[in-house]
Amino acid sequence: MPAFSLPRCELGVATAATQIEGGELDTNWHRWAEAGRILDGSSPARATDHWIRVPEDIALLSELGIRHYRMGLEWVRLEPARGRFDPEAIAHYRDELTRLREAGIKPLVTLHHFNLPGWFVDDGGWLASDALTTFLRFVELAVREFGDLADEWITINEPNIYATKGYLYAEWPPGERSYPRMLRVMQVLVAAHLAAYVRIHQLQPDAMVSVAHHLRIFEPAKPRNPAHGIAAVTSRYLFQSAVVRAMATGRVSPPLLAAKGYPPGRYCDFHAINYYSRSTVRGFADGVATDVDVNDLGWEIYPAGLIQLAAALDARYPGIPIYITENGTCDAADGFRSRFVYDHLAQIAASRLPIVRYYHWCFTDNWEWAEGEAARFGLVHVDYETQQRTIHDSGRFYADIIANRGVTEAAYDRYVADQKYPNNSLGGRP
Ligand code: FCB
Repeated sequence: MPAFSLPRCELGVATAATQIEGGELDTNWHRWAEAGRILDGSSPARATDHWIRVPEDIALLSELGIRHYRMGLEWVRLEPARGRFDPEAIAHYRDELTRLREAGIKPLVTLHHFNLPGWFVDDGGWLASDALTTFLRFVELAVREFGDLADEWITINEPNIYATKGYLYAEWPPGERSYPRMLRVMQVLVAAHLAAYVRIHQLQPDAMVSVAHHLRIFEPAKPRNPAHGIAAVTSRYLFQSAVVRAMATGRVSPPLLAAKGYPPGRYCDFHAINYYSRSTVRGFADGVATDVDVNDLGWEIYPAGLIQLAAALDARYPGIPIYITENGTCDAADGFRSRFVYDHLAQIAASRLPIVRYYHWCFTDNWEWAEGEAARFGLVHVDYETQQRTIHDSGRFYADIIANRGVTEAAYDRYVADQKYPNNSLGGRP
């Protein structure tokens, strides 16, 4: 039966400040772009110009019936110089949050989503001796200034991706290749989350707080190769379970060290999963299996993985609600995005797990970290030259699912039935 209902899971969309706002700012990512490190040569200075199009974008959210919106704060706007806060930026975000609430849309606010002020980077970034206190001051500012308008927070987005891409694989700023420094950053991010979790609850006792983990399925590149098997187990452990455990409970296992001052306890009010794909691994390198469904970036489309990961988390830390804080696909032609949405939501509908939120990445097309404007993840197409927004069929499909609290036969026939995924052994053609 193609139709299903989703009575317990609320649907929303996700974004991140740097990927949509635009603006000539001094951040690690603006610098990285200026250094020519983005695949298509673009920069986050343009993005979707959301900073000056907040009313238009909220109207679009309303048009689609969206009631949950994950958004980020751009730290450097709020604190343009160390310890100096900008009242205009504060007023701007207050206005955005107020408009969202007036439109009946609940915000989930991310505090750190890969974006860092230039001055923080110049002072040593996350490896500076006072990085934690600096970050906490920003967290306090956000909760004091916006706590009457928002009560759901993501402290940090994808600490594992940030640490590995920036410090181990040199693919993201600051472009380092050092295992010990990657570990140290991971360590600091664990402490930053624990400290932020505690501080937010001191200021706002009823807040819902978590950290968004990038979780993926790791399989050995060759199933019978023992070295690949070990690589898969190591990746699952190092890249995700050790980090998740440390951040959810304050309990650490090697190679992580305990964060001083934060005894074992509970440090998340919901699990937050960003899920995109499955990897095959050999050593430290990961790849993609052959003869599998893939998106425009070659990432495998593997809907079952979402529930495998959520089930593992639920078994390990039971009784905690689960939010899928990101899930989506790069599909410039919008030729298979509806099927992607359908297949992932079908997994949720069929499971008994407490998955109560699902945020599609992304609301509109957005500036992607490594690929720039070329990678298109939006339910809404953006023409970057004119900044014209056009709702894709997948956006209409998503609106229909929200309105009907599930997928109807008619919606399936209209939006999904004819869609096929590209397959990588056919050169990525459907
Ligand atoms: C995730 C990031 C998000 C976006 C998607 C495609 O890893 O959190 O900002 O880039 O990937």
